[in-house]
Amino acid sequence: MEIREVDPADEAALHRWWQAGHEAMAGRPFDLRPTWPTTRAAMTRPHDDFEQTLLAAYDDDSVVGAALLLLPIADNLAMAYADVTVPEPHRRRGVGSALLADVEARARAAGRSYVLVEVLAPLGVVGPGERFAEARGYPIANREGVKVLDLDDHPDWAPLRQKTAERAGGYRIETWGNFTPDGLAPAVCEALNGFISMIPSGDVAIEDITLTPERLRRNETRSDQLGRRRYAAAAIAPDGALAGYSDLFVPAHVVDHADIGITMVLPEHRGHALGLALKLATHESLMAAEPRCRLVTTNNADANAQMNAVNDQLGYRLVEQQLEVQKTLSQ
Ligand SMILES: CC(C)(COP(=O)(O)OP(=O)(O)OC[C@H]1O[C@@H](n2cnc3c(N)ncnc32)[C@H](O)[C@@H]1OP(=O)(O)O)[C@@H](O)C(=O)NCCC(=O)NCCS
Repeated sequence: MEIREVDPADEAALHRWWQAGHEAMAGRPFDLRPTWPTTRAAMTRPHDDFEQTLLAAYDDDSVVGAALLLLPIADNLAMAYADVTVPEPHRRRGVGSALLADVEARARAAGRSYVLVEVLAPLGVVGPGERFAEARGYPIANREGVKVLDLDDHPDWAPLRQKTAERAGGYRIETWGNFTPDGLAPAVCEALNGFISMIPSGDVAIEDITLTPERLRRNETRSDQLGRRRYAAAAIAPDGALAGYSDLFVPAHVVDHADIGITMVLPEHRGHALGLALKLATHESLMAAEPRCRLVTTNNADANAQMNAVNDQLGYRLVEQQLEVQKTLSQ
């Protein structure tokens, strides 16, 4: 078995890399890994904020495992984000270990201190990912739940709309799509830059990001060109200040599912049901613009009581657990 880098411009090699990842996750309750057209579009258009490396494990000529390494380069320079997948028939032969060792060597060579990996598992089950993480020296840094909302079958939102209207005070909600209005961009960046400190994230070593309006616009342009759609909302306080923000995304080349990005209400503006109001606004924008969309997914830390309460009211149900496992690298 040999680990080799995959050139995303080599479409046949990229497809086999994608296929291995897809097969490895075949048992999920909802297969929400990026589709082939999404992967092809995203991997061939590098992101300014990350250096990406695609790795495949080859046994003779067949791909028996796949990994992705993302090194953030605009902030979080101590972090390396990785994904390692081995399809069922090739497991327990050291393929995952070999891929992870390669990932770690690259992260170490780039001066990174932590490798963070997300492991999915059915509810109440200790899956192979968790066992593997344990065996390879990756303690659990945070526990999250993956939740799904069925847009064709959710609780009646009329009482929620009523509640947000009653609690809104002088706050208003503004919505937009792929591009943040110029006037709001500095405040949105400032809010997003404080997001990581604001959420319960256990022992995960990720630090606040350092977004600027220019970087935000560059990222938005890349997403837009890929064909990704965003539905965003901001809560604006009576004095015009940004009080909260939420967004959700439909991946490029996908019509039937969306994923929530970030939801936040700044501490001094809490208590006005703005979290719920923001989420209602983004979901309603999505449903109006994309009637074929069936599912929305999200994930939150188990410890995030407020966000979980909002999601429960909207009708999200827990379908999977997601563990964030993290290794501290010795240099
Ligand atoms: C996790 C995964 C990548 C492991 O791939 P793999 O090629 O089977 O891993 P390895 O053969 O290198 O396993 C290394 C060690 O991890 C542990 N391990 C791996 N899978 C295990 C399982 N199903 N049960 C118990 N221990 C397991 C064992 O200690 C194993 O060593 P051993 O076989 O000598 O006992 C694979 O199961 C997978 O793709 N799962 C779905 C995706 C995922 O969860 N990825 C996140 C990885 S952190």
